[in-house]
Amino acid sequence: MTATRQPAAATPSRRETMLLASVVLDPAAVVAPVNRRTFGSFVEHMGRCVYTGIYEPDHPLADEDGFRTDVLALTRELGVTLVRYPGGNFVSGYRWEDGVGPREHRPRRRDLAWHSVETNEVGIDEFARWAAKAEVEIMYAVNLGTRGVQEALDVHEYVNHPEGTTLSELRRANGAAKPYGITLWCLGNEMDGPWQLGHKSAHEYGLLAAATARALRSAEPGLELVACGSSSSGMPTFGTWETTVLEHAYELVDYVSCHAYYEELDGDLGSFLASAVDMDHFVDSIVATADSVGARLRSKKKINLSFDEWNVWYLSRFQGQEPPTGWDVAPRVIEDEYNVADAVVVGNLLISLLRHSDRVTAACQAQLVNVIAPIRTEPGGPAWRQTIFHPFAKTAALARGNVLRTRLTSPTYGTARHGEVPMVDAVATHDAESGDVVIFAVNRDQTDPVELTVDLRLFDDEPRLAEAWTLTDDDLRATNTARHPDRVTLRATERVSFDGRTLTVVLPRVSWTAVRLRSAGGER
Ligand code: AHR
Repeated sequence: MTATRQPAAATPSRRETMLLASVVLDPAAVVAPVNRRTFGSFVEHMGRCVYTGIYEPDHPLADEDGFRTDVLALTRELGVTLVRYPGGNFVSGYRWEDGVGPREHRPRRRDLAWHSVETNEVGIDEFARWAAKAEVEIMYAVNLGTRGVQEALDVHEYVNHPEGTTLSELRRANGAAKPYGITLWCLGNEMDGPWQLGHKSAHEYGLLAAATARALRSAEPGLELVACGSSSSGMPTFGTWETTVLEHAYELVDYVSCHAYYEELDGDLGSFLASAVDMDHFVDSIVATADSVGARLRSKKKINLSFDEWNVWYLSRFQGQEPPTGWDVAPRVIEDEYNVADAVVVGNLLISLLRHSDRVTAACQAQLVNVIAPIRTEPGGPAWRQTIFHPFAKTAALARGNVLRTRLTSPTYGTARHGEVPMVDAVATHDAESGDVVIFAVNRDQTDPVELTVDLRLFDDEPRLAEAWTLTDDDLRATNTARHPDRVTLRATERVSFDGRTLTVVLPRVSWTAVRLRSAGGER
């Protein structure tokens, strides 16, 4: 790794060896309001996300509906606002009607996406009950892999039509007198991927997405519809897929989706720590692509981005495994155990999402429980927070008001995958009502701390230091486990000060930090 180390300020001796980064914040330089849907998550019928994840009727902590109350409490603590359901690859072979009505009559089906058996004990009615308890909005994905317009209309009628039709009355007979009022709908999942059941060309999918959107809008004009974008920035059709799909569906949809998973490959930690550079590039490229289609169509409308699958996922390990031969119910699939470096990357990906709040107006970390997830459980046993839980929960709790444009000066280092990248990345939010200013920052450097100074002279409400939290560890591979669930957690930031105008915080090597300043009149 080559690091471009800028000389430090000349005076105090400690500073002579300290790397420096700086930012000037201006309350008038607003990107966009913080969108609460940025803090979405994802529950797929996959592995143990649903069964022995959110739902385990035999568990000592299960409630009257069979939901694990320990998982519900952790979901609320995580600050999740929105949950995408029921897949993922699973949805592309799913029949929603299998999951409604008396449980004893529900079919057991093969799930071809994950080579397992779906018992259908949980369907949309149960999930809606869980979502109400978790206090989250549902983002519902329809099957456009093996199904089409009619089935999308049917599930919409079941969940959103008030009463007086066969499917709305069926919902009422199944115990839900009121419609669920689901606003946000995904038109399929990852239809650009050859692994997807019913995979289509961009042209075929664009036509189907447009037809489905038109039909759903005839039923309920105010729906917010998400067309499938690229499954990763590495897809051969990245960019051209979105162009073709939007040429068909631009005026009919509101969002195009983005999916991205990151992992440390070949021991290249420096590139992995800079994963947010790829997310920035992904967002900027798809915004430009969507806007260029809009310009050609002479449309006044802007398409926003739904980053509805993102996380760290050790995908290469999964792809290197032998495919399953048996057909199990809720097998253990991709239960990645996350370490300190992974948590720093997740914190940085949230910085990237916040930075793009003007166009990324929904996002879902994939997934919520057990399957590449911030929450882990054991059947009949405990639930605990993985390392990646902490930056998500703190960001969701503290990011309020407006996202501010954050122009950073930082030392840089070279990476194999992303070229020269800044060591420090940061974003800030400002809540004019409470006076809170929050800075979220990472230090990606593997050896040295960096001193970050934040100039707040343009704020006239005299903020004070309220709280500062850092996630770091001498052992970057440390993880949380059932036996040691709090091995890695947030700790009070050790070196932070504020002189009324400039915040100075030392970011340890490979760390994530959040600092909240509160105006004198603030109440929190
Ligand atoms: O989140 C795991 C899987 O990743 C999802 O099912 C799929 O959409 C993506 O490829």
